[in-house]
Amino acid sequence: MGMELMDVNEGIERNAGPVAGIVCEHDRKKALLIPALHSIQEDKGYLPGEELQTLSEKLNLPLAEIYSVASFYGQFHFSPRGKKIVRVCLGTACHVRGASSVLNGIKDRFGVGVGETTEDLKLTLETVGCVGCCGLAPVATVNEDIIGEVGPDKLDELIQSIEEEE
Ligand code: FES
Repeated sequence: MGMELMDVNEGIERNAGPVAGIVCEHDRKKALLIPALHSIQEDKGYLPGEELQTLSEKLNLPLAEIYSVASFYGQFHFSPRGKKIVRVCLGTACHVRGASSVLNGIKDRFGVGVGETTEDLKLTLETVGCVGCCGLAPVATVNEDIIGEVGPDKLDELIQSIEEEE
């Protein structure tokens, strides 16, 4: 058994040159993959299938591998996203202070569920854990902005601002 292992190891060492080269080339392509995915998403707002197919051909990486890598990182999206990404905080403080009313208000008004985007691409609705502003609960974020103390009036304002979005 010991001898067999030694033979295998020697075999690997003998072949280290080309094997190492292949592994290296594969790693190099994978290192290019993440920045390329970021760049596509920045440009298109998400990762369209045809762009991933082109990327697969250019990098000579299987499409399934590209999807697998992109799925692993939560920040990539495979369908179009809304102009406004609204995230309702469902952390404990926000939950206690009425986050579900905020969430349901947006769901009802726009007819979308969590993770969905309106057909006119004005809104994508998501939820998030604590965003660190518990004193302002309930909290929602709209793109990079934080909106605190979202009572009925602020919710109406928020809904109106999204509806008026061009
Ligand atoms: S729980 Fe919502 S900001 Fe902390």
